[in-house]
Amino acid sequence: MPLIAAKPALATPALADSALLFRSRVLFVSGKGGTGKTSVAAAIGRLAATQGRRTLVLELDNQRPSLTGIFGVRPKYAPTEVAKHLSIANVEWVDALGDWLEALVNLPRVVRLIMRNHIVSVFLEATPGARDLVVLWRVMALARSYDLVVVDMPASGNAVAMLSVAHTARRLFEQGPIRRCADDLVNLYAQADTKMVLVALPEEMVVNETVETARRVAADLAPLRVPIVVLNRATPPSLSAAESTLLDGLLAGPSEGLAREVLEAGRWEARLETATAEALERLSAELALPILVLPVLARGEGALRVVGQLTSAMARASSVPVELRGGA
Ligand SMILES: Nc1ncnc2c1ncn2[C@@H]1O[C@H](COP(=O)(O)OP(=O)(O)O)[C@@H](O)[C@H]1O
Ligand SMILES: [Mg+2]
Repeated sequence: MPLIAAKPALATPALADSALLFRSRVLFVSGKGGTGKTSVAAAIGRLAATQGRRTLVLELDNQRPSLTGIFGVRPKYAPTEVAKHLSIANVEWVDALGDWLEALVNLPRVVRLIMRNHIVSVFLEATPGARDLVVLWRVMALARSYDLVVVDMPASGNAVAMLSVAHTARRLFEQGPIRRCADDLVNLYAQADTKMVLVALPEEMVVNETVETARRVAADLAPLRVPIVVLNRATPPSLSAAESTLLDGLLAGPSEGLAREVLEAGRWEARLETATAEALERLSAELALPILVLPVLARGEGALRVVGQLTSAMARASSVPVELRGGA
C-alpha cells in the first residue's frame, strides 16, 4: 500500500459562497465542540459588519462567554458595540425572562413581583424547555433591531434540543403566551434568510457527527434549513501527483537525521491533505450541500487573529465583492 493515498482532488465544494452566510438575517452556528463555532460566528459577524450590515453576535446564557477572548469585552445581556456595525451580547435567561414577562404584562412593577416570587422561579427553572424558550424569544426580539444576528449555539445535539423547544411547546400548548412564542419561532425557522450552519473538521468522528446533526435538523427542526457546511482547519492540497510519488519513494527508502525529519514532515502534511480531501468527499456525498473550506492556521495565533484570518478566507470565498477594513 502506498504511504500516501492518491492525490486528493479538492472538489468544487471548496468554492461554497460565503455570501450565503453573511447575507442571512438569523444564523445559528453549531457543530461538535471545539470545531471553531465561536471563531466562525465571530468571523461571519465581522465580515457582515464590514459590508455595512448592522450585526449582532450572540452567545446564549454562557457562564464563561468565549467572545470575551476574541473582542476583549465581556458580552453582557445588553448588546455592546465592539466595532463599526458590530455588537456582541450574552443572552442570560433570567434577564430574558424578565423582558418576556414585561412584554406580556407590560407592567414592570408586576414583573418585579413575579420575578421575586420564589415559587415562580423554581417552577420556571424546573419546567423543561422554559429557559430555552425565553432565551430564543430574546433572540427573536433582538433580530428586529439588527440586519443580521449570528448565534453561537451550544454543540450539535444540545443545539438541536434547544431549537426543538418550539415544536415541543406547540404540542403541549394550544394557546396562550408560550404557544404564541413557539409559533413565532417556527415562523422564524421558516424564513429563507434564517439558517443553521454546522462547523466540521477534517476528522472522521467530527464528520460523522456533522452528518448526523444535519439529518436531525432536517427531521426534527423543519422548516429550519442547513444550506451550507463549514469545514474548518482544512489543509488544501500542496503536493502534485509527481511530488506525492517521489515522497512515497523517499519515505520507503533509507534516510536519517535531518533528511528523515523533513520527509516525516512531508508525510504529515500529506496525511492532513488526504484527511481534508476525505472529509470533503464524505460531507458532499452524504449531505449534498455546498461546503465552505477554511484553512488551518498556525499554532499560537491569538483568538482575535484567528478570527481575522477566517474573516479574510471567507471574504475570498464570497461571490459578492468584499473589501475588508480595520485589520479584519
Ligand atoms: N482554522 C483554525 N486554525 C487554527 N486554530 C483555530 C481555527 N479555528 C479555530 N481555531 C482555534 O481553536 C480554538 C477553538 O475554537 P472555538 O471557536 O472556540 O471553537 P468552539 O466554539 O467550537 O469550541 C480556539 O483557540 C480558536 O482560536
Ligand atoms: Mg465556543
